[in-house]
Amino acid sequence: MRERLLAAEKIKAIDWRGDTLHLLDQRLLPLEERWLAYDSAAGVAQAIRDMVVRGAPAIGIAAAYGVVLGARTRRASGGDWRAGLEEDCQLLAASRPTAVNLFWALNRMRERLERLREGEDALAALEAEAIGIHESDREANLTMAQLGVDLIRKHQGSPQALLTHCNTGALATGGFGTALGVIRAAHLDGLVERVYADETRPWLQGARLTAWELAEECVPVTLNADAAAAHLMKTRGITWVIVGADRITANGDVANKIGTYQLAVVAMHHGVRFMVVAPSSTIDMSLESGEDIPIEERDGRELLEVGGRRVAAEVEAVNPVFDVTPADLIDAIVTERGVVERPTAEKLAELMSRKRLH
Ligand code: MRU
Repeated sequence: MRERLLAAEKIKAIDWRGDTLHLLDQRLLPLEERWLAYDSAAGVAQAIRDMVVRGAPAIGIAAAYGVVLGARTRRASGGDWRAGLEEDCQLLAASRPTAVNLFWALNRMRERLERLREGEDALAALEAEAIGIHESDREANLTMAQLGVDLIRKHQGSPQALLTHCNTGALATGGFGTALGVIRAAHLDGLVERVYADETRPWLQGARLTAWELAEECVPVTLNADAAAAHLMKTRGITWVIVGADRITANGDVANKIGTYQLAVVAMHHGVRFMVVAPSSTIDMSLESGEDIPIEERDGRELLEVGGRRVAAEVEAVNPVFDVTPADLIDAIVTERGVVERPTAEKLAELMSRKRLH
């Protein structure tokens, strides 16, 4: 599977070139493929805030490279460069609140600095750490793809209709994707009859990014309005809903793109299995339950306007961009450390006590 996935790799969105970070501008896809170059931590923080780069693992990876860029500038300007770098870390941390991978990656970079050995070059160590975060996410994607396919096959070995939400593919990660990585691998294994991609209002990650990624890889995909999901589960023989996560708490609650929670409720009603795929860097054992997760609210204009033109009546709009799916609506959480079926606090604690594979 690993080799077949590697051979199928086509799309990437993050390119580290040693002195600059290049990001594929996801605000313009699929109509335009434009790369933007960043040479400062502040620039990367802005790119995360503006969603040039998005998706929990990709945000963490970009932030790690942002720290390298910050360290380079701070050290060149002399003085207490480490204090200046901490300011950069805080700026990066303030870019988006929900995906815990951002804070996880920043802490890994801080810890690396703490662990510097006598005579070791701080810049080289930070750069190696950021590349390591990027590479290990890619490896985690491969492991999760295999584990997710095994889980699908365990329940049914024939081609199936799957439904996904938001974008969890190569654009959202350092590799093949989390939920979309499982879907890709399932397709390579002949287990996919069709993928239904929720359009994912209001930012349209499904319509613009997931549909594009799957079409590029010749995976049969049908785009649907978010509101069509219940009807499709009832009429199209969907067997699994497969989604990613932005933060999973110690009890197995999952924050993901707005609309995920209602999908899980509807899936339960229709007897459709619900799989969450995320690397263990998305698991936040410091929070007891999903109630503690900060939920990002974005500008109401994302709802009121289409393509910069107002389409809604003159009212205010509320735009929470994530929601929390309670653990008891989830059949399985797939991570690179293993699979947890019917998640509970005990099972999550056991999973996190396992050694990291990558
Ligand atoms: O607002 P976004 O596009 O950053 O939200 C992305 C999601 O909600 C994804 O489902 C999640 O980050 C997992 S990506 C592998």
